[in-house]
Amino acid sequence: MKYDFDQLIDRRDTSCAKWDDVEAVFGSEDILPMWVADMDFPIAKPITEALRKRTEHEIYGYTQTSPSVIESVVNRMKRRYNWRIKPEWVVFTTGVVPVLHTAVRAFTHPGDEVIIQGPVYHPFWSAITANGCSVANNQLKLINRHYEIDFKDLESKFGSGAGGMLPSSRIKLMLLCHPHNPVGRVWTQEELSRVGEIIIKNDAIMVSDEIHGELLFRGFKHIPFAAISEEFEQNCLVCMAPSKTFNLAGLSTSSIIIPNKKIRDRFNAARTGIMSSPNIFGLVALEAAYRYGDEWLEQFLEYLQRNLEFLMRYFAERIPDIKVIKPEGTYLVWLDCRGLGMDTTSLRAFMREQARVGLEDGDTFGPSGAGFQRMNIACPQTTLEEGLNRIERAVKATL
Ligand SMILES: Cc1ncc(COP(=O)(O)O)c(C=O)c1O
Repeated sequence: MKYDFDQLIDRRDTSCAKWDDVEAVFGSEDILPMWVADMDFPIAKPITEALRKRTEHEIYGYTQTSPSVIESVVNRMKRRYNWRIKPEWVVFTTGVVPVLHTAVRAFTHPGDEVIIQGPVYHPFWSAITANGCSVANNQLKLINRHYEIDFKDLESKFGSGAGGMLPSSRIKLMLLCHPHNPVGRVWTQEELSRVGEIIIKNDAIMVSDEIHGELLFRGFKHIPFAAISEEFEQNCLVCMAPSKTFNLAGLSTSSIIIPNKKIRDRFNAARTGIMSSPNIFGLVALEAAYRYGDEWLEQFLEYLQRNLEFLMRYFAERIPDIKVIKPEGTYLVWLDCRGLGMDTTSLRAFMREQARVGLEDGDTFGPSGAGFQRMNIACPQTTLEEGLNRIERAVKATL
């Protein structure tokens, strides 16, 4: 069937964080929300149908994960990535952020450092600090509007820079964001291999957050970290979920793939009593999305590509002081606003009070995000255009 992504749907009064929290977060009701990472689009019809059917049963007791749900994850990994996983590797959770916290508790000791690559999704920082550890920031390098990994710094953070001459590292965990929120990179096989080799050499564990892995712009391919080699597979947890891909975040259901039994057991021990079993509707939606959601997904990605091209043209022609870091994946666009010559506080006030758009402030992703803003473009093009018009008017008014 043909989906209509141009349709404007009022999300107010639906317990919707993005629209109903606008006043609380941005201080005014007339701010156009382009922040929280969900979409202003209705979901694929087969998911709605599966949910409707399940509601008709009218008993919603405690859940277990049926072989059929697990099989839908196993089949999707094979179909999308040619990654063959075993059913027993799949662990269902109530989200990916709880997994980041649980992993820090499971695989570190208080006081340890954990590697992340700023600027990065803010819960990466808090998952570490809230659990008694500190951040080792392997800051990404911005070269010609393209973010790259600083491998030299990564090696030296692990303490293995001098060709293994230094004592073995105390860092035992890294949280990778792949594709990367907010900078939009889809890490290549070569980049993943280099990172993975450093992980293996230092006997560390990788948590690879691949929640945006199916949201790709034309020409880009997602390779799960674990699919690169058996050695990588045995040293990682890969976080997969239908929540971003199919707009199901409110159903709080993710599938974490943990091939190594020892790592899986440690993770499960750390989550016991804290992270409950997943939501019954979340599991129904996950299975329907993974089995029957591709027709919708293909059309969504076409629409998203057009939104990105529209935005790129708009900034280049009408707001050239803001430079777009062209994303390779995700529906989040990282805007380099340093050309406006404002400090963090003024930029934040400018977007809210003058432009009246609700974007994410870059510095919430780490210190190197200062001067940037993150815009969510998973919305009808008229909404995107309205947001861009607002920014354009506000920038022109400052000239
Ligand atoms: C990289 C990344 N990980 C995790 C999440 C949230 O995951 P969950 O809602 O499953 O906790 C987001 C949401 O924006 C994200 O961008």
